[in-house]
Order: sequence, then structure tokens, then C-alpha cells
Amino acid sequence: MQCPTGRQMKVYLETMGCQMNRLDSELLVSRLCAAGHEIVDEPGQADAVLYNTCSVRQHAEQKVLSRLGADGQRKLTGRKLIVGVLGCMAQRKGEQLRKDCPQVDIVCAPGQLARLPELLAAASESVPSVALDPKRTDQPRPAGNEVIDELDLARDPAGGASSSQAFVRVMRGCDKFCTYCIVPFVRGPEVSRDPARIAEETRRLVDAGRTEITLLGQTVNSYRWRAGEVTVRFSDLLSRLSSLPGLRRLRFVTSHPVDFGDDILQAMAELANVCPYLHCPAQSGSDAVLSRMGRRYSRADYDGLIDRARAIVPDVSVAGDFIVGFPGETERDHQASAELIRRSGYKNSFIFKYSPRPGTAAARELSDDVDAATKKRRNGELLVVQNEVGLARHQALVGKTVEVLVEGPSPRADRQATPAARGETQLLGRTVGDHIVVFNGPDGLAGEYVDVMITGATALTLFGQPAQK
Ligand code: 5AD
Ligand code: SF4
Repeated sequence: MQCPTGRQMKVYLETMGCQMNRLDSELLVSRLCAAGHEIVDEPGQADAVLYNTCSVRQHAEQKVLSRLGADGQRKLTGRKLIVGVLGCMAQRKGEQLRKDCPQVDIVCAPGQLARLPELLAAASESVPSVALDPKRTDQPRPAGNEVIDELDLARDPAGGASSSQAFVRVMRGCDKFCTYCIVPFVRGPEVSRDPARIAEETRRLVDAGRTEITLLGQTVNSYRWRAGEVTVRFSDLLSRLSSLPGLRRLRFVTSHPVDFGDDILQAMAELANVCPYLHCPAQSGSDAVLSRMGRRYSRADYDGLIDRARAIVPDVSVAGDFIVGFPGETERDHQASAELIRRSGYKNSFIFKYSPRPGTAAARELSDDVDAATKKRRNGELLVVQNEVGLARHQALVGKTVEVLVEGPSPRADRQATPAARGETQLLGRTVGDHIVVFNGPDGLAGEYVDVMITGATALTLFGQPAQK
């Protein structure tokens, strides 16, 4: 595709938030390059700065507002610059964003990103755009194969930050409506993609050398495709994709504890390249809090899922998410979350302080009554418990040899690791269970699978050395 005005721009794109945003940004880069634009690393060199934003917590939106403040100053001093806000915050704020921040030229919702070359062209003629997705109440559910994957289908299979790993979207949106969460409002209704299209995209990525594919969905295990009499469940999709020659690892995130049938666990146990890794947020260990969060499961249901997972996939590694300080959370509820971390034996947990999001049921109906200091303390306490649990899991791996997919040089020299000898680099990679491994090895191993003998561990990192053959 050619640049609609013929004017090619230098574009700076900053990505905030989750893996879905990282994928959207990668697809957008493909799209912009195909339209003749150039991606630059420094906002100072750019004709257009774009922020692919997150709305999940207020903090994430504040970061965007502070970037916009600086861009506004630059424009006031006469700098010609197109400013675009993309993604979840664009959809949440809509027209209001341009009223609050007149320096913004483009507001573009997650489902409209394919239009960006057109919106940039208009902005270069000083025509601003607000491209929003229909509000979920205004519109019947989109017919999955028509509208939802235009960007995905047009992707450059060799594009992206890694030559060995790639994300593939299997669904959009979310229908769960947890009371604290903005996602169902900004990402719209849950729609699964046609499995044939997912398989085709995955095949092209694998043919281009990607050996590890991570399937993405807000509630990925709810994936379901119906065509006539045939229903394709998530486990069916796993089994179809796992047979692609050259695909060494197939992962998926994020799972919701409801809809998690044994069929998915069986697929994990039986299909050699489906990784024994489960990111399955609990959010709280207390029934009272889970009920106010609208999570649709009890603590006993969640415990049951972890037990089933460990029975069917004995070496499964599990990661969780928790929210501390949800309205009405008592010290007892908080202890229940700590206890759940111990019981579940998570590899790691992402722990967040509750942040009321305008428009959600919790923000409307429940008072944000846990004070900031208590949220901070509870966050720290859960992290301490998680670190103990994570360390114990890691220590059990010391002395074992694990297969590591090398991602590249370790981004920061780890003080716990042995310094690299001459001709070697401190490398970072991951096991099938998503454990991070740091070891010294020759340069140029990125993208390779290496057997590493584990010699040491912290709560977040394993250390080792290449195993002798
Ligand atoms: N406040 C704090 N954390 C939140 N999350 C989602 N919404 C909120 C909120 N309003 C967390 C959940 C979810 C993760 C992506 O972000 O733990 O799993
Ligand atoms: Fe948000 Fe709940 Fe949907 Fe996850 S399942 S995206 S927490 S509404």
C-alpha cells in the first residue's frame, strides 16, 4: 500500500500496557511501513508521535497525559508535529481527549488501527480525526471473520522485535465484565477469529522462522468458533496449531478460571509443543471479594482448577494476578489472598493496587475505601509471600538441566550471575514454563534452543551454564 498523500513520515510509536498492545503495535508498524512511512527510535526525530495506550489503571493514563503535556509544549514553540493517541485510552476518552488536550490530532480506538495511514495523511493536511469503535451497546456483535482481523492478516511475518517469537491474536474483546475492569468497554465484545485464518497466520510466522508462538486473548480459553454444525473449542485450536511443522513451542495467555475445561489441560499434557504454562489470574483469595469483583467463581473453584492442572500436567508452571485494596477488602480477605499464593505455588504473580475506573460497576457502586497506605502495604506483603513461593519453585530446579530458548543478551548485567568470560555474553532466555534463565554463552545464540544446567536461583531468575553434551 502506498502512502495516501505520497508524504512519507518519520513515526515514533510508544507502546504502553499489555501484550495485546505490543501485538497491535507490531501489526501497526507493518501497516505503516507498507504505507511508506519510517519508524524512528527518538521522538525528537519524528514528524508524528503515536502512543498506543492502556486504560487498565489510572496510573497508565497519567503517563500518557504527561507525554502529551510535553508534546503540547513542543507544538507551542512552533514545532510541526502530529500527535496521536491510540488504543484503550483513545476509546475510553473519545472526543473529550481532543477537548482536554488540543495538541492531539488523532484519536484512534483499538479496532480502527488499520485506518492509521489514512488518519496520518489527513492530519498532515491539518484535518484532525477521532476514529472510535462503536460503543458495545450501540452495535450488534461483529461477524468475527469480517472486521476483526484486517491488521492481523496483513502482517509482515518477518516483522517484530524477535526473530524467533511472535504473538498471534485468537480473539478480541471480553464479555466477562469483572466489576473493576475497563477492558470490556474499551476492547468491545468477545469475538473469536476464524481458526483457518489463525492457522494460516501462524504457518506464515513459523515459515518465517518463528519457533515460539504465543496465542493472545483477554480470556483466551473462552475461544470458541462456530460454523454450521461444527464448534472449534480452544483445545481443538491448540491441537490444530500444534501439528505445524517447525513450531517448537506454543503458549497462550491470559486464561480465565471459568471456562477452563480438562480438555485444555489434556492438550497441554499430550501435545509435545504446547508449553506447560498457565497464566490464570485469581485476583483475590476471598469469596466475599471475588463475589464483589463479579469473577463468577469461588475460591474453592479456583483451588479445584489448580489441583486439576497439577494432576493432569504435573510439571505445569502457573502465574497469577492479584488486586489488593479492592473496595471492602478486610485484613482477613487480604490474608486469604496471601494463603492462595502459597497454596497455588505460583511461579510469579503480578500484583496491582485497585484503581477505580470510571464507567465500571465497581467505580459506580462501591466506595474506594481502602486507603493508599494500606494498599501499598498489602501489595508489599503479597510480593514478599510471592517471592518466597517463587524462590522455592526455582530452588527445586537447581541441579536440573532445562531447555532454554535464548532471547538475546541479558538487558542488565545481573550481579548474581557469573561475569561473562571473553568472547561470551550474559544471555537471557526462557524455559517451557516461562522461567527466566541467565547464563553465559557465545554471542549470536539468540533464537537458539540450548540445554542449560541450573546452578543458582533467585525468586525471579534462574542462573546456569550450558550443559555438557
Ligand atoms: N485496578 C487494578 N488492577 C486492575 N486490573 C484490571 N483492572 C484493574 C483495576 N481497575 C488488573 C487485573 C488484571 C490485570 C491485567 O490488571 O489483575 O488481571
Ligand atoms: Fe477484565 Fe475480567 Fe475481562 Fe480480564 S476477564 S479483561 S479482568 S473483565
